Amino acid sequence: MKKSFIAIIALLCSLAAAARERVCFDSDWKFILGDSAQMASVQYNDAHWRRLNVPHDWAIEGDFYAGNPSGAGGGALPGGIGWYRKQFRVESLEFRVFLEFDGVYMNSTVFVNGHKVGFRPYGYSSFEYDITPYVHEGENVVAVRVDNSDQPNSRWYSGCGIYRHVWLTKTNPIHVKHWGVYIHDGKVEVDFENPTNQRVKVVNELLDATGKVIARANNVSCSKLHKWSLQDPYVYKVRTQLIAGGQVVDEVETTTGFRDFKFDAKTGFWLNGKNFKINGVCEHHDFGCLGAALSEDALHRKLVKLKAMGVNAIRCSHNPPAPELLNMCDTMGFIVMDESFDMWRRKKTQNDYARFFDEWHERDLTDLVLRDRNHPSILMWSIGNEVLEQWSSADADTLTLEQANLILNAGHDASTLAKDGELSVQSLLTQHLAEIVKRYDTTRPITAGCNEPSPNNHLFKSGAIDIIGFNYHHENVKDVPKNFPGKPFIFSESVSALQTRGYYMMPSDSIYKAPKQWWLPYTDPSFMCSAYDNMHASWSSTHEELWDVVKHNAFVGGQFIWTGFDYIGEPTPYGFPARSSYFGLIDLAGFPKDTYYMYQSEWTDKPMLHLFPHWNWLPGQEIDLWAYYNQADEAELFINGKSQGVLRKAEKASKFSRLNSDLCTPYHVAWRVKFAPGEIKVVTRKNGTPVCTQTIRTAGAPDHIRLSVDYKGKDLTFITAEVVDKDGNLCPWTDNQIHFKGANVIATDNGCQTSMERFTSPTRRAFHGKCLVVVRGSGTLTAQSIDLTQASLDF
Ligand code: GAL
Repeated sequence: MKKSFIAIIALLCSLAAAARERVCFDSDWKFILGDSAQMASVQYNDAHWRRLNVPHDWAIEGDFYAGNPSGAGGGALPGGIGWYRKQFRVESLEFRVFLEFDGVYMNSTVFVNGHKVGFRPYGYSSFEYDITPYVHEGENVVAVRVDNSDQPNSRWYSGCGIYRHVWLTKTNPIHVKHWGVYIHDGKVEVDFENPTNQRVKVVNELLDATGKVIARANNVSCSKLHKWSLQDPYVYKVRTQLIAGGQVVDEVETTTGFRDFKFDAKTGFWLNGKNFKINGVCEHHDFGCLGAALSEDALHRKLVKLKAMGVNAIRCSHNPPAPELLNMCDTMGFIVMDESFDMWRRKKTQNDYARFFDEWHERDLTDLVLRDRNHPSILMWSIGNEVLEQWSSADADTLTLEQANLILNAGHDASTLAKDGELSVQSLLTQHLAEIVKRYDTTRPITAGCNEPSPNNHLFKSGAIDIIGFNYHHENVKDVPKNFPGKPFIFSESVSALQTRGYYMMPSDSIYKAPKQWWLPYTDPSFMCSAYDNMHASWSSTHEELWDVVKHNAFVGGQFIWTGFDYIGEPTPYGFPARSSYFGLIDLAGFPKDTYYMYQSEWTDKPMLHLFPHWNWLPGQEIDLWAYYNQADEAELFINGKSQGVLRKAEKASKFSRLNSDLCTPYHVAWRVKFAPGEIKVVTRKNGTPVCTQTIRTAGAPDHIRLSVDYKGKDLTFITAEVVDKDGNLCPWTDNQIHFKGANVIATDNGCQTSMERFTSPTRRAFHGKCLVVVRGSGTLTAQSIDLTQASLDF
């Protein structure tokens, strides 16, 4: 093993082709849900096992059941032990052979030809094994045991199985080590393996986005390069070659980008000399009805929708993400907070990673940084989320999973905080984790999601946290400059408002807290939350309230809203049969909730207007009609052609100004009106000139199904099915059962948190008039429902 800082440009054309070959190892696995030690052996007869391709998540195929040990907090889906086996050929033993897993949830043990090659407990880490000693020329067998039987081990839905990609890599014995290239400060460090005595030359070249070699990588100076930014996410590649005996014996390409950024205690966040807010969202790793199984299409669809809302940053909560997420953030222009753990030594759920932390944290944190440190999108590392080590005595042992998910900092009084002059075990642990990160990357600051705002929080007290990150506690933000002098600040997590798409609780200017206090049960037979921005958990706030704090405090670098998309599990404030979250700005099926458009109005420039709710109510019923808009100074509502008044957004949030109406804030206008069937229309104007118009009509009886493509990917197409009246108006109260046929239906969903239909079912009830079907390949999809005219769509 050698380390080199050498970069030499050379004429390489005369040299032999590089020996490295990295192939996708996803196809043709055999799978069974069951367990036997024999399953590792070469002789084991797996003929009756199911054939499938990974990424795969067996839990998503199951039924929701209150008795599943994951609990509603884990999505009420099954766990268990599963095995995967695959045959593969090795043609020559001249090479080293590596097997790489991007993620297996969890407790994976890998066997090659019956030999155990390794065990990894953390379900979110990527890892590679050198399987050279265990393979032979000809047919070989790899077997992977995945054990997700000890539950609960997560506060959200984890998924089960080999849920990310697998790769097989063949190299020369002289080769660049796994994650062995580090590009930083205009230099390239290369860590390589050289078991021979030959002299090895390291050559690095910088390639621009067109693939043209433009420089020796160690000579690059940032000022001359095309900067990576959110609007222009320009990436370069570094090509690293190892040359021995006049031959190129190994070659790897690493994507990188160049940007200047800083977090400032007074002025917040800066990228390439521009000061702006981090408008981020927290995301879990699941893809709704597709479960945890990585799909580039589903991931891209998510990011496209978030970008359209104006989101510019993603927090990978609360664990290492799929590499593809980081690749897309690099090329689509998102900032990333890359996060390691949801817990350290103190557990939050009975069987979570805390039981492995002592033995594995160094390896897992090291691997995260080594794997991810070249991504230009990553601008900060988070060493933990709401870890209980913030306090001296904080045990979640007595909490149920549901309680743990409701609140984690219950009852921690001042006595559990650090004493003056004391550096506690918890602070030392914080320093230790920060040191691990800095050992491998010194170019990015370290933060942690903290829900204890006191400067005597043991994590803050350690001095190792570069950016003070609060989860919630916006009422303490005014004290940040005083309590943390000289330290930059962000909301590592914020809001946690609760919403069900299409469900409205009036009066809309009342704030509904659910639960009122974390320890109180919350029940409402509807199992729904209000889609006006007027409902949130006891520890959190409305979207508008928090955004107002971020917007008007220059030192606040930005926020990461909990969450962009709904996710499976953690159905706060409810328990089973609720089984997915209410926190998202976009529902589990991928349909935006109304508040999505509040951010769009604040975070994007393109003129927009969003009027809601629908216009199907009881005669005479009092209804609050809200509108989000931008690029205009007033909005006028018409009901059946008659003006209901011109409104302007309020100027200041401090009073939630009564400028025009009690219902108006700086972020929306609202009219309180009586329902009369027909048509509502809003027109926005700037200096008297119309900017946008939106019309909603009262829908008549459900008549037919309308299919439309929501997102078309390379492999999967996401199609929306809507129940509409004869004139094409969405019927907002309908829940017709729709059956999809004629195509390769992978999954269905409707965004309803209590839907008990299997995600893999080709049948789904519409929810507030619509649902989603995910199909593979191409074909013609037909949607049928009793009493409705069917629809077909070519995709
Ligand atoms: C936070 C936690 C998140 C999620 C959220 C719900 O305390 O970091 O994982 O549980 O609360 O409000």
